[in-house]
Amino acid sequence: MSPTRPKRRPSRTILAEMARLAGEARGRAHAPYSKFRVGAALKTRTGEIVTGCNIENASYGLSMCAERVAVFKAVSEGLSGFEAISVVADARRPTAPCGPCRQILWEFCGNIVVHMVDLKGRSRTLRLSELLPLPFDQRNL
Ligand code: THU
Repeated sequence: MSPTRPKRRPSRTILAEMARLAGEARGRAHAPYSKFRVGAALKTRTGEIVTGCNIENASYGLSMCAERVAVFKAVSEGLSGFEAISVVADARRPTAPCGPCRQILWEFCGNIVVHMVDLKGRSRTLRLSELLPLPFDQRNL
């Protein structure tokens, strides 16, 4: 994904709708071990929204974050041109994607908007480059 593409940011209305869908997906989380339920909603520039939730496993290391579930679902459906991801969790502060998710998001989404929301509706919105400065990507290879 080119880091020089024009910077666009979804409207507050669209971010709110993404957060709503992420919250619904969070309701489908399989998190019996951590009990930390996360939902995500990934939006393309053309308006498609794909959701994900975290899916844990009794073999803990196999667990998958909500963000990566959303990205892999979307990519496997042939979608591209991602604009923003909304992440919803119940925490004292908005939940930022973990390190591996940041790397996966950079690979498939480039410098997208990351909208982090808690259950009280408090949110923080950053660009992925703020969460992953000096990324490792194909330009390094
Ligand atoms: N988790 C996510 O799904 N996304 C995040 O951004 C942070 C962590 C999940 C992984 C695991 O199922 C649970 O939250 C506790 O780490």
